[in-house]
Amino acid sequence: MASSAKQAAVAGAVGQYSGQRNSNGNYEVTLIPGDGIGPEISRSVERIFAAAKVPVEWETADVTPVLRDGRTVIPDEALASILRTKIALKGPLATPIGKGHVSLNLTLRRTFNLYANVRPCKSVPGFATRYSDVDTVLIRENTEGEYSGIEHEVVGGVMQSIKLITKPASERVARFAFAHAVATGRNHVTAVHKANIMKLSDGLFLQACQEVAREFPGVQFDEVLLDRACLQIVQDPAQYANTVMVMPNLYGDILSDMCAGLIGGLGLTPSGNIGRDASIFESVHGTGPDIAGQDKANPTALLLSSCMMLRHMRLNSYADRIEAAALATIAEGKAITADLGGRASNTQYTDAIISRL
Ligand SMILES: NC(=O)c1ccc[n+]([C@@H]2O[C@H](COP(=O)([O-])OP(=O)(O)OC[C@H]3O[C@@H](n4cnc5c(N)ncnc54)[C@H](O)[C@@H]3O)[C@@H](O)[C@H]2O)c1
Repeated sequence: MASSAKQAAVAGAVGQYSGQRNSNGNYEVTLIPGDGIGPEISRSVERIFAAAKVPVEWETADVTPVLRDGRTVIPDEALASILRTKIALKGPLATPIGKGHVSLNLTLRRTFNLYANVRPCKSVPGFATRYSDVDTVLIRENTEGEYSGIEHEVVGGVMQSIKLITKPASERVARFAFAHAVATGRNHVTAVHKANIMKLSDGLFLQACQEVAREFPGVQFDEVLLDRACLQIVQDPAQYANTVMVMPNLYGDILSDMCAGLIGGLGLTPSGNIGRDASIFESVHGTGPDIAGQDKANPTALLLSSCMMLRHMRLNSYADRIEAAALATIAEGKAITADLGGRASNTQYTDAIISRL
């Protein structure tokens, strides 16, 4: 393949943002405030974007599920908004536990083919935790694996859950990981797996990564067993500071929360779901029901997710400015929220960030 055609193929495979400025010169972005603390932290992001004069117009979408044919589904207007804008920032959504409730997060991932979940975890300078040198980037396959939802009762007392791994989904996420490694200058991809035990399913995932690696001769590739990766990261996270880790769904879920714990918790960790039809950026934490409505929530995770979103939209200078203001506010420590050991409200912390812009 000619190199420009190859670049275009890779661009198509990695969910590049294709939105256009509107007649006001702004990009339209769907905002899903979400449940619990979601509306409070979303408001904080809206205020900071307005203060930084980010060329973005929000289209707020309500994803409160509606009942259709006995199933809870996302309202059509919300889906239409994301399909039109191709990009969304999402607060956390509550998933009731029990039969008949499909996770809205899973529904969004499936509806928009959000095949790669990107989760960076970087130590915040000046905010002390046990580790000062965490800088991991983890890419989680987002559509299948243990989350394929294929479960059944074989006979009474015996349940079976099927982990589905396919070559196209594995190749797609691997290709995204390599393109991400090139785009971010890491130039190194590490596949995390258990192919020693799950020889067929993880074996196929690993094989897909190995094959895609040949398309990127300039990117170093290696592989590691999941258990070994966990041990190495908690012993010395710096070992993983120069690579992009790519892995099947459940491993990514667990390993990314572990990395979040190393930098100070879920209040600080952003994520992006990159897809073929749209991309949705969201905080990793949930709805914080115990602090909802009290102006106590830390908006940093959603704010850093919004910075990832801006970089995806190639609005890097705005992302850099907002991120620097937030991290400096945390490092100074005067106006930080309770989860980080401070006494500031969400509003006071947001005001402090705005005053630095
Ligand atoms: N992506 C998502 O939409 C998502 C992710 C995880 C959980 N959930 C949902 O959220 C609900 C609550 O889940 P949970 O209680 O297990 O997890 P949670 O993340 O909401 O809360 C865990 C703890 O962390 C605190 N916390 C979370 N975010 C915080 C923030 N920004 N600032 C300060 N403190 C924060 C909470 O107050 C709580 O004490 C459930 O319905 C769950 O399904 C949604």
